[in-house]
Amino acid sequence: MWPNRRLCDLLKIEHPIIQAPMAGSATPELAAAVSNAGGLGSLGCASMLPDGLRNVARQMRALTGRPFNLNFFVFPRPDTGDAVLTQVIDRLRPYYEELSLGEPSRRLPPIGPGFDEEKLELLLEIQPPVVSFHFGIPDAAAVGRLKQAGIAIIGTATNVAEARKLADGGADAVIAQGWEAGGHRGSHAPNGPGDGVGTMALVPQVVDAVELPVIAAGGIADGRGIAAAFALGVSGVQIGTGFLSCDEAGTDPPRRALIRTATDMDTMVTDAFTGRAARARRTRYALEMEESRVPLPDFPQMVALSAPLGGDKDFAFHLYGQAAALNRELPAGQLVRTLVAETGEVFDALSAGKTTPA
Ligand SMILES: Cc1cc2nc3c(=O)[nH]c(=O)nc-3n(C[C@H](O)[C@H](O)[C@H](O)COP(=O)(O)O)c2cc1C
Repeated sequence: MWPNRRLCDLLKIEHPIIQAPMAGSATPELAAAVSNAGGLGSLGCASMLPDGLRNVARQMRALTGRPFNLNFFVFPRPDTGDAVLTQVIDRLRPYYEELSLGEPSRRLPPIGPGFDEEKLELLLEIQPPVVSFHFGIPDAAAVGRLKQAGIAIIGTATNVAEARKLADGGADAVIAQGWEAGGHRGSHAPNGPGDGVGTMALVPQVVDAVELPVIAAGGIADGRGIAAAFALGVSGVQIGTGFLSCDEAGTDPPRRALIRTATDMDTMVTDAFTGRAARARRTRYALEMEESRVPLPDFPQMVALSAPLGGDKDFAFHLYGQAAALNRELPAGQLVRTLVAETGEVFDALSAGKTTPA
C-alpha cells in the first residue's frame, strides 16, 4: 500500500514507520513490539555505558528477529567556563532555596564527547542493523566503518543545510524533524529556542534538497499525519510522542497523566533543562528561564544543575510534542497496525475524492 518503499527497502522493514529513539522512554519491549509489527523500533542509547549497551542489544535480539535501531548523540566534549557557571548558579540559587536544596553544585560532571572511538568499536562489535544520530553525524572515517559493517545510518536534520550535510557525510536516510517534535531538536549546533521550521514547511524542502529517502518527524500521530507526510514526498515517518502512551513505554506515571489531558498548547521549546533546545512541557521553570535568559552550561552539563529541581512539578522536565492530545493508550504492536490501517483509509479516501476519515 505504501506509495514509496525506499525506506522499507533500505531498512528491510514492512511498514515505513519508525518509533523514535527516546532516551529513558523507549524500552527494549517497546522497540521490539514495533519491530515485530513491521515498523522499526529504536532505542535512545546516548547515555548508556558499554555493558548497558551490550545488554539492550542482547535484549532486542532475544525479543525480535527483525531490524532495530540504536541512537546516539553527536556533540563535542562540553567545556563550560567559570563565568557562565557563576551566572547560572546565581540565577538558579533562588529556586534551590525555595525547594530547600542547599547551594547549587559548582562541580559539573566530566562527560562526552557524545560519540567517540569507544562507542564506534562497540557498535562494530554489536552490529545493530540500523544506527541513527541526533545533533550531527560522526566523521567520515567512522561513518565509513559503520557502513562497511553493513549498518544503515540515519541522521536528523532540522533545516535544509543540515540535511545536505548529512547527505554529504554519508547518511543513508535523513530525518526532517519539524518544530512540532517532542524532545530535543536535532540541530547540529546549539541554537536559540525560537529557531525552528515546522514539519509542513521543512519536509518538502528537504525532499527537494537531497536524493536520499527522507523521514518526516514532528507532530505526526495518526494515519492523517502519515498520509500527509507521504503527500510531501517522504519515504517514511518517525513518531516519538505517539508511542509514549503505549503499554511498553518507560513513560513515568506523572507524564502519562499529563499526556492524557494534553492540549496543543501544552509545550514550548526550552534549553533550560539540558543546555540544548528541546520541546517539553511549559512549566514555571521553563517560562521564567526563557524570560530571563542567562548563558547556560554546555549540553549536557546543564542537566547537573536542573535535575535536582526536577522533583517539583513546576520544575520537572517532561518531553513531549505538540500532537500529544492525539495519543492512544494501546500496546505498541496494535498502535502500529492501527496507524497502518488508518493511513490506508486516508490514501483510499483521497484517491476516491472523499473526505479524509477523522
Ligand atoms: C520523550 C522523548 C525523548 C526523545 N529522545 C530522543 C533521543 O534520545 N534521540 C533522538 O534522536 N530523538 C529523541 N527524541 C526526538 C524524536 O526522535 C523525534 O524527533 C520526535 O519525537 C518526533 O516528534 P513527535 O514527538 O511529535 O512524534 C525524543 C522525543 C521524545 C518525545
